[in-house]
Amino acid sequence: MTLPALRGAGRTPHRRALLLSALLVLTAGLLTAAPTTPAAHAAAGCTSTADCLSKMTLAEKAGQMTQAANSYISNKQDIATYGLGSVLSGGGGGPNGAGGTATQWADMVDSYQSYALNSRLGIPLLYGVDAVHGHNNVQGATLFPHHIGMGATRDAALVQRVEDITRQEVLGTGIRWSFAPCVCVARDDRWGRTYESYGEDPSVVSPLASAAVKGLQGSAISSTSVLATAKHYIGDGGTTYGTGSSGYLIDQGNTQISESELRAVHLPPYQSAITAGVGSVMVSYSSWNGTKMHGDKYLITDVLKTELGFTGFVVSDWAGIKQLPDATYADQVAHAINAGLDMIMVPDDYVGTINAIVTDVNNGKIPQSRVDDAVTRILNAKFALDLFNHPYTDRSYTPQVGSQAHRDVARQAVRESLTLLKNDSSALPLPKTGTYKIVVGGKSADDLGNQTGGWSISWQGSSGTHTTGTTFWQALQQTTAGTGITLQNVGTRTKGNYSADVGIWVGGETPYAEGKGDSSTLAFGNDNSTQLSDICSRVKTCIAILYSGRPLIIGNQLPKAQAFIAAWLPGTEGAGITDALFGAGFSGKLPVTWPTAVTDEPINSGDGKTPLFPLGYGITPY
Ligand code: GLC
Repeated sequence: MTLPALRGAGRTPHRRALLLSALLVLTAGLLTAAPTTPAAHAAAGCTSTADCLSKMTLAEKAGQMTQAANSYISNKQDIATYGLGSVLSGGGGGPNGAGGTATQWADMVDSYQSYALNSRLGIPLLYGVDAVHGHNNVQGATLFPHHIGMGATRDAALVQRVEDITRQEVLGTGIRWSFAPCVCVARDDRWGRTYESYGEDPSVVSPLASAAVKGLQGSAISSTSVLATAKHYIGDGGTTYGTGSSGYLIDQGNTQISESELRAVHLPPYQSAITAGVGSVMVSYSSWNGTKMHGDKYLITDVLKTELGFTGFVVSDWAGIKQLPDATYADQVAHAINAGLDMIMVPDDYVGTINAIVTDVNNGKIPQSRVDDAVTRILNAKFALDLFNHPYTDRSYTPQVGSQAHRDVARQAVRESLTLLKNDSSALPLPKTGTYKIVVGGKSADDLGNQTGGWSISWQGSSGTHTTGTTFWQALQQTTAGTGITLQNVGTRTKGNYSADVGIWVGGETPYAEGKGDSSTLAFGNDNSTQLSDICSRVKTCIAILYSGRPLIIGNQLPKAQAFIAAWLPGTEGAGITDALFGAGFSGKLPVTWPTAVTDEPINSGDGKTPLFPLGYGITPY
C-alpha cells in the first residue's frame, strides 16, 4: 500500500489538506485492494539542481551522497528523515531475500520511493541494482550470457540489443540505475570475475562497453533510461595473483603495472563508455601499485574527471572505503570524497556516513565545494532521468519481464557466444533427419543454475532450478520432438550400461561470484573428467559442451571428444546451443587466450607465451 507522498516538516500550509487526503486514502485503502500504482505525488520542493542546492542543508547534501542497501534499512522512514539519495539491492537483495517477481520488486522499489518523496524537499531516490546479464536478481527475468560469452560474439549491435532489453526489464521493476557494464579487462583467468569481462583485449572490450551503455541509457540519458555504470575503475582485471584482499587469491588485489600499461590496457573502455555518455563510474576495490583505488585522487579526479571529462558521478563499491588505510571511518570518508568519490555505497551505517560527511565539512577536512560538486553530479543524473516527474515504476514494462520476444534474443546471443574449439570427423552439425540415438549426461545437462552461473537470483548463484528458463536437455527434447532421434539422459550416472550413436556431455563449473571464484588451478574437475570419459567411451561420436566462466585446463579432455564447445555461462536460453548443434553453426571467437597449463597464467595475446588456443580462435561455422 503506497500512500501519496506527504512532505516532511516545514512544508507549506496546505499540509493539513495533504494529511486529510492521506487519511482519506488510508481509510479508502482499508476498504479496497491496495493500488499497484502509487497515488500521484506532490511536486518536489526544488525544481533544478541549482535550486535544490540552494535550499539543501549540509545534512541533506550528505544524505544525497549516501547509498544504503535495502537489507540494512530496518525503518523506511529513515529514507525521509535523512534524505537518502540512493538505495541499492546487492546480489540477491530481493523484497524477501533472494528472488521475487518483477511485480514484487516494483512494489518494493515504489515503497522506498514513497518515503524519499516524503523527505523535506522530496528529492526522489535513485535505486540501484546489479543487472549484469539481464535483470538477474528477478525470478522470471531473461538471463543472457555473461559478458565473457558476449565478448565471444564480438557483436556490438547484439550487445546493445541485449542491454536495451535489460533496460526494459529493469524499468519494469521501477529501478533506474544498473551497476553495469563491467568494463574490466581480464588479464589473469584465475580471477573469479573473469566472466564479468568482455575479454583480455581493450580493442574487444571498448566497443562492447560503448554498446552496453547505449543499450541501457539510449543515445542520451532520459526518462526511459537506466543509468549505466562503467566498473570497476580502474585495473580490477589486472591484479597480481596472490595479492588479493578480503582473503581472496587475486580479486581486489594490487595492479602492479606502469601508468603507460594502465592507460593502454585498462583505460580505453572507460574512454569509450564516457564517449557513449555513461552516467556513473564505480571505483574498484583493487589497488594500483599499492594505492587503494578508493583513495586515488590522481586517477579518479585528475584523470577520470578532468582529463577524460567525465561529468557523471562516481560511486564506491560495497563498503569499499572501509579498505582505506585511514585511522577512523570519518577519515576514510574524507579520504574517499576528497579523492573524487561522489556517492558512498555504505551500505549499512548510512547515518554514521552522513554524520561523518557533515563533521568532516564542519572541521574543514572536506571542502564544501567538493560536497556541492558531488551533489551537483548526483542531482544532474536524477533530473536527466526525469525522476522528479516520474519517480515510480512505469508498470507498462512489468509484463514484458521474461517475455518470449526477449528470450528469443537471448537465444540468439547464446548461439553467437558459443566457441567451437574442436570438430574432428565433422562430428557437427548433427542431422535433424534420419534415425539415430543421442545419450546426454554430465552435471549441467539439465541444470539451469549451472547454465546461468553466478549473479543469478542470488549473489553467488546456485545449482538447480532457481528461475524460469530452458536447460540444454529441455532444449534438446524440444528440438528433436517429432524426429527420428531418440534421447536418453543419464545425468551424472554415467557408468551405466548404455550406448548410442552420439553422446553429448554438458558440465564444467558450478556457480560462483567475485573472489569466491578465484582459482589456483583452473581445474576441469575430476567429476567432469570421469563423466566425460564414461559417456565418450560408450558412443560413436562424442560432443563436449563446457559451461565455465573462463578457460579451464582441458588438454587431457580434448582427445576424448570429437567436438568440443566452450559455451561460457549461457543464461536461461539453452536452445541457443541446440540451434548451433543442428545447423545454425558457430561464430564465437575466444575473448581470452586459452592456456595449456595454469602455470602459464597470466597469459595474453602478444606476451610471447604459447597458448592451447589463441585469442580470437574459433572454428566457424563448423
Ligand atoms: C559488489 C561488486 C560490485 C557490485 C556491488 C553492489 O561487491 O564488487 O560489482 O556492483 O558490490 O552489489
